[in-house]
Amino acid sequence: MALANSETGDARAVRRPGRGAAAAEGLAGAPPALQPSEFAEICRFAHERFGLDLKSGKEELVSARLSKKLRQHGFRSFRQYFDFVRADASGEAMTGFIDALTTNHTSFLREPVHFDFLRQTVLGTFGRARPLRIWSAACSTGEEPYSIVCSVLARSEAGAVSVLATDISARVLEIARRGVYPASSLAAMPRDWLSRFFQRGRGASEGLYRIKAEVAAQVEFRRLNLIESTARAGAFHVIFCRNVMIYFDKPTQQRLVRQLGEQLVPGGYLFVGHSESLAGVDHALTYVRPAIYRRAAGEHGR
Ligand SMILES: C[S@@+](CC[C@H](N)C(=O)[O-])C[C@H]1O[C@@H](n2cnc3c(N)ncnc32)[C@H](O)[C@@H]1O
Repeated sequence: MALANSETGDARAVRRPGRGAAAAEGLAGAPPALQPSEFAEICRFAHERFGLDLKSGKEELVSARLSKKLRQHGFRSFRQYFDFVRADASGEAMTGFIDALTTNHTSFLREPVHFDFLRQTVLGTFGRARPLRIWSAACSTGEEPYSIVCSVLARSEAGAVSVLATDISARVLEIARRGVYPASSLAAMPRDWLSRFFQRGRGASEGLYRIKAEVAAQVEFRRLNLIESTARAGAFHVIFCRNVMIYFDKPTQQRLVRQLGEQLVPGGYLFVGHSESLAGVDHALTYVRPAIYRRAAGEHGR
């Protein structure tokens, strides 16, 4: 995953000599230096397993991000930490590794054009589909899939909706399943949606909102790695695959977009993030408008 240098935090410390013993005891101290061979191995692994495009020049960023994990687990070198990640059968360490190298930033009704298009155009096209099948690929902490369900349910004439929400990170999926959010994160949601689709917390939960059970019931959360075959996920009227592809290299994007295209029903839509471009990616989809693509309609003109 290509990461912006602005996300490095204080990367200057990373070149200082290591003080592993202090780190192992959880004491403050400079982290060990990331060796070129360690960086190369981490890059290869992150690319093979998760499609992350960690180009050279990102050493400081990777070091800064993973140093926190070293400190957390008390390791004296990146090699020790990396061996631990690969050996951990529970998958927890792997989640920590990928979370450290990626960003989970998301929000309710993020890139609102997609949700307007969903209500105004998609529901017009597929309104009679029972259920309307939508996939939120790389759903992070759940704001995207819940925004989808609320947008559909807000149209009283709309029928049932079934959302598959997937992510590589078990940690974010746990937060998503819980469905509890601070009021401040809901600012973009129309006011009447809050009372309709959320339960307001009281007492110790003051300031928090929980997604209502009937909304949550429309979403199935599942762990899925987008660089593996996604065919099992099935066919969809709409796929949201936003703000994850930018982090993959072109060949990985290419494979993914082709795969997603095949998983759209005829006339189905693919939404990508507005900062992501499919330029240079060879695909069979039709450009509709920025960040919206469509599979050719079938013979019934759907
Ligand atoms: C920036 S968030 C995007 C969230 C949401 N789609 C949005 O646009 O608001 C990127 C998400 O992609 C997930 N991710 C990264 N690599 C992945 C992979 N190989 N397969 C599936 N999800 C991945 C991360 O765990 C993270 O939650």
